[in-house]
Amino acid sequence: MTPLELVNLAIEAREHAYIPYSGFAVGAALLTKDGKVYQGCNIENSAFGPTNCAERTAFFTAVYKGERDFEAIAIVGGKGGEPISELCAPCGVCRQVMAEFCESDFKIYLSKGDGVVVTKTLAELLPLSFTKADLEH
Ligand code: THU
Repeated sequence: MTPLELVNLAIEAREHAYIPYSGFAVGAALLTKDGKVYQGCNIENSAFGPTNCAERTAFFTAVYKGERDFEAIAIVGGKGGEPISELCAPCGVCRQVMAEFCESDFKIYLSKGDGVVVTKTLAELLPLSFTKADLEH
């Protein structure tokens, strides 16, 4: 699975976004270390707070299925019904969820859907993070 293939699966997932309030459609594709992919989209709610980001939809689906070892996630987002025009970086809550299940070298692929993939690590996007290791001190 190449980064671009994972991005294409995120673009496909974005089509499933439930976005009656923001109109902003996000797709994610999460790759396990043994090569399986779990897709997710954002799912909004009239009370706003219960809205689930695409990344967390992908993570929670995978974790429910018993997955615990993750390699990378691709994320794309932009105005629903339109081509992607900007990179969509994960929100802080999703970065924290990644920190629960992933190592610092977990890869985050961002793309405008133009064939170019920007690669970041979790350590770059969430430095000095609070993790389960902190609870053991
Ligand atoms: N959103 C995501 O799905 N992932 C992110 O990392 C950023 C924000 C969603 C939540 C909401 O449905 C919409 O984008 C606008 O914030």
